[in-house]
Amino acid sequence: MSFKIVEQAEARLNRSELAVPGSRPEMFEKAAQSDVDVIFLDCEDAVAPDDKEQARRNIIQALNEIDWGTKTLSVRINGLDTHYMYRDVVDILEQGGERLDLIMIPKVGTAADVYAVDMLVTQIEAATKRKKRIGFEHIIETALGMANVDAIAAASPRNESLHFGVADYAASTKARTTVIGGPHPNYGVLTDRDEADPDAPRAYHWGDMWHYAISRMVVAARANGLRPIDGPFGDFSDPDGYRAQANRAGVLGCEGKWAIHPSQIALANELFSPSDAEVTKARRILEAMEQAQREGKGAVSLDGRLIDLASIRQAENLVQKADAIAGK
Ligand code: GLV
Ligand code: MG
Repeated sequence: MSFKIVEQAEARLNRSELAVPGSRPEMFEKAAQSDVDVIFLDCEDAVAPDDKEQARRNIIQALNEIDWGTKTLSVRINGLDTHYMYRDVVDILEQGGERLDLIMIPKVGTAADVYAVDMLVTQIEAATKRKKRIGFEHIIETALGMANVDAIAAASPRNESLHFGVADYAASTKARTTVIGGPHPNYGVLTDRDEADPDAPRAYHWGDMWHYAISRMVVAARANGLRPIDGPFGDFSDPDGYRAQANRAGVLGCEGKWAIHPSQIALANELFSPSDAEVTKARRILEAMEQAQREGKGAVSLDGRLIDLASIRQAENLVQKADAIAGK
């Protein structure tokens, strides 16, 4: 282990994160009643420019009046390049009461962007004597944000999570796709010709065009103790497509995925919860390692495979997640 200790952000369940436009207050109550882990009320891209002020007022009212239960509650403010952003922060924090947990910063590009919002939030918290400290979620969704992802991840003690915003990332990098998330038929490899049988059909394997971006973000997040979260999958009539995207993000280290439609909440909760078999196995690993340590051994075999001190850390992660879900 490095001498540097990576402080972990406040532990929260973040398997599913529901996007709710601030301009659609009729959706708020249903979101509050849902089984989602995190809700973000949106001031940004789901809200048309003419609706921005009303959306902000709707959000303030909802923060004060709706019973959000134990859900983590976030607001996605407008980008730092707009004139809406300062008022989003000032009005929502000054008038929205104590319920809000997080602010989501879209299109974050540099550590200085984080610093600027941190400064504003810190002043408002002090002036209003807010008891609960606001945390930050950052959407990595521009080439600039990805180029500076390590500095952004380290920029504030308020940071809790990084999110991969695939739609804006595609636009920013000029990727040749117009869908939100998912694979692309042109991103793939053709297997070699079979020299013994040159006319035999060759297989074409689709690749994951987002592999690098998600992996890069996961590394920056984990190196700074933050949660990496996969962003939207636009085709809400394709649960199998959603499953595939969520599973591959989970395998790479993401803890959850956005839901842009209520039907995606249950999928995310299921796919980002450890299965009973995984939890049972993790508990057996912990027992076996306890026994090994009592006997002065660093590594033992379990079910014909080597387990060692790293296995303890992997197993503890799983068991902690299962306990958090059970306690929800
Ligand atoms: C999310 O904001 C995205 O652009 O995908
Ligand atoms: Mg976006």
